[in-house]
Amino acid sequence: MGRKRVLSGVQPTGALHLGNWVGAIRNWVALQHQHDTFFCVVDLHAITVPHDPALLARQTQQTAALYLACGIDPQLATVFVQSHVPAHSELCWLLNCITPLNWLERMIQFKEKASRQGSQTSVGLLDYPVLMAADILLYNADLVPVGNDQKQHLELARNIAQQRLNGQFAAAGATILNVPEPLIFPEGARVMSLTDGRNKMSKSDPNDNSRINLLDPPELVCKKIKRAKTDGAMGLTFDDPERPEAVNLLALYALLGHRSRAGAAAECGQMGWGQFKGMLSEVVVEALRPIQQRYGELMADPATLDHVLSRGRQQAEMVAQASLERVRTALGLTPRPPEIP
Ligand code: TYM
Repeated sequence: MGRKRVLSGVQPTGALHLGNWVGAIRNWVALQHQHDTFFCVVDLHAITVPHDPALLARQTQQTAALYLACGIDPQLATVFVQSHVPAHSELCWLLNCITPLNWLERMIQFKEKASRQGSQTSVGLLDYPVLMAADILLYNADLVPVGNDQKQHLELARNIAQQRLNGQFAAAGATILNVPEPLIFPEGARVMSLTDGRNKMSKSDPNDNSRINLLDPPELVCKKIKRAKTDGAMGLTFDDPERPEAVNLLALYALLGHRSRAGAAAECGQMGWGQFKGMLSEVVVEALRPIQQRYGELMADPATLDHVLSRGRQQAEMVAQASLERVRTALGLTPRPPEIP
């Protein structure tokens, strides 16, 4: 058995936050040592909602730099920008044509985002999960490390691969592309908002105080944690679902402070909010310090980042092109004629 193939990505919309890090990128760093890993900046997904072109270009570079600053090693992993590999859009079209519309209409994230966009909802937003399926299936990924909110999209990718592509177009007993499995690490899989412990931390929340961004300076981290919603009870706990803010912040304290859940619960079980928030701020600032330092170095040296992304594109393209050809053939599209010398 060869190494397992892993693919994941983050949208370059707004600043990356603690949820993106502990729910996804932090886990990628561990996986790159044992697996064949592909990490892309999914810029085509970022244009499914209204966007500012100048900002998108900048945030795409910044997101790639953050991958590296968080510990993704381009010697071990393939790091690239989704739109640099046209096979993503092409496979998306092929999969569009074999995916039932009603599978997309029931996607929770589509319904949530479409309710905000109203009559301005784009076709791209509806199609978002098919493009995501294309991202994954192109690399024949075995494992897709994501946060909890991506479960339904992963299920869709599996159904497209298994029921539609392999089920309808592969010879009996054969497969065209691999059926991927989600990889969700329970700790950190759902980081909640600082202003409402019942909602997940999100880039699209208009209130910046609801999240800690990976590039927030220490003073801002402390200010946001100081302002974070609390409750009237004494002591932090994991055991009271009626206290979602306490559960969320204690989980972050354990995770970023490298403490076991039992250890963190014992340490903070009798503590007042003021003292706890001071300790949490310190742990978060220290966890972000090396990321911010490395990020600064990378952004000061754009040639290195450009080189990583060029190499990434080449490596990704080789794998993607082979998968695309398999799907084209299975669907009956005629082979591309060779170039005339
Ligand atoms: P995005 O950019 O919304 O999220 C990127 C990753 O961060 C995780 N995440 C969280 N984890 C824990 N707590 C949170 N509050 C939180 N918020 C976000 C997400 O689960 C995700 O893993 N649709 C994908 C992007 C994508 C993709 C792919 C992922 C496009 N193609 C192919 C995997 C494979 C997304 O959610 O992006």
